[in-house]
Amino acid sequence: MATQDPKMAPPTPAPLPEALRHIVLDFMQMEEFIKEPFVVTRADGIRFWDIHGKEYLDGLAGVYVVGVGHNNRRVIDAIKAQLDTLSFAPPLHATTPPAIELARLLAAIAPGDLNTVKLLSGGSEANEVAFKMAKQYHRQTGHPLKHKVISLYGSYHGATHGALSATGSKSRKSMFEPTGIGFLHAHPPYCYRCPFEKTYPSCNLICARIIEDTIVAEDPETISALIVEPIINTAGIVAPPPEYHPLLREICDRHNVVLIFDEIITGFGRTGHLFGADTYHTVPDILTCGKGMSSGYAPLAATICRDHIATAFRGKVEDRVEFHHGHTYGGNPISSAAGLASIGEILDRRLPENAQKVGECVKQMLAEQLGPLGVVGEIRGHGLMIGVELVRDPRTKARFDGRLAFGKRVGKMALKNGLLLRSEPNWVAFAPPLIVTEEDMKAMVDILAASVREVLKTV
Ligand SMILES: Cc1ncc(COP(=O)(O)O)c(C=O)c1O
Repeated sequence: MATQDPKMAPPTPAPLPEALRHIVLDFMQMEEFIKEPFVVTRADGIRFWDIHGKEYLDGLAGVYVVGVGHNNRRVIDAIKAQLDTLSFAPPLHATTPPAIELARLLAAIAPGDLNTVKLLSGGSEANEVAFKMAKQYHRQTGHPLKHKVISLYGSYHGATHGALSATGSKSRKSMFEPTGIGFLHAHPPYCYRCPFEKTYPSCNLICARIIEDTIVAEDPETISALIVEPIINTAGIVAPPPEYHPLLREICDRHNVVLIFDEIITGFGRTGHLFGADTYHTVPDILTCGKGMSSGYAPLAATICRDHIATAFRGKVEDRVEFHHGHTYGGNPISSAAGLASIGEILDRRLPENAQKVGECVKQMLAEQLGPLGVVGEIRGHGLMIGVELVRDPRTKARFDGRLAFGKRVGKMALKNGLLLRSEPNWVAFAPPLIVTEEDMKAMVDILAASVREVLKTV
């Protein structure tokens, strides 16, 4: 793929500190950010450059987004061609050729009979749609009391109020509680530190079975949906055992509960298959996706539902059974064109297979390079979504003192050393563009190992 050399681009003038006072970043103390602002100006492939010309390896695909890599000409050209044709259409009245084609493509590649698509702009929106779609579906199929949503502790489903209510990560939501009513949480399939103090497989998947107990105890006629990420990112790249999702599928079938897979991160090749649903051989009733769908070239997300759900929304105008939901930018033609080109790249270049192949090497490299440093609790994940749980003592699984925020310090050091990755106090994760090679990953793991060594000297 021919790419222009970003180093040839003209230098960008530094922003004035006072200009930075007008902007608010995500989950960021801006007073701290302003002291050492990180301003990115250009990118190419798996690299990007900051305002001073410093080069970084993108070990996180931005934020689990840029699957096809930066500066992909096919996606850029598709967007340009669409801009020259039509940039906006009235969503209350019409759709457009790229939106129709994108819905058709998604129906073709999504597992099972996930055939009906609501196009949207972001992951939170997609999950809000999933909750409302499940509720309206139950109302229109004779179960009007089904309204509660079960989700997992440690999960993140978005920043808007409904998605935040389902989120199970207290650091993201306690500031805004009380959140929505009717949102219940269950413990995640976190085998490394089993919340039930069991060991897989003799645990007999108690973490899944207890969700059924919750449904029964609450009254199944009140439970609308169960939402899970196939691999739980915010919990620390928690990858459930293979039987977990199929068991959730059975439980939801038994109690007429809509199973929602939040594939905002796991979709479009990240886990080594097109969807996490494929990795876990489970077809949810509703699948939400975003991020890698357009590789970040334009805001794009979708909520995709199975035929039995879609059917409940079809009828006469006077029945008013259509889906009562809309967004100004849903199905935007520019975003749709970006999505079509990005998914085309993922399919044509067989990027899920590359994710699987390179991902296995990354796990090995991490074990070899970080293992001897004595801080690796567990290396886990699938494809190119790989987490490392960092511990003070791998033998006892003892964590570092929380005040150290060890993993966060590693993440900061890695950024200083030219590598972007995801970091939390007890874990770090790689989720690079799906185009990475083994050599690229070797360079990234080298920087990570050097960064861990540097941080270890300070604790
Ligand atoms: C699993 C998951 N669901 C939902 C969201 C929300 O997506 P967005 O930030 O596009 O609203 C995110 C965002 O990181 C996510 O990781």
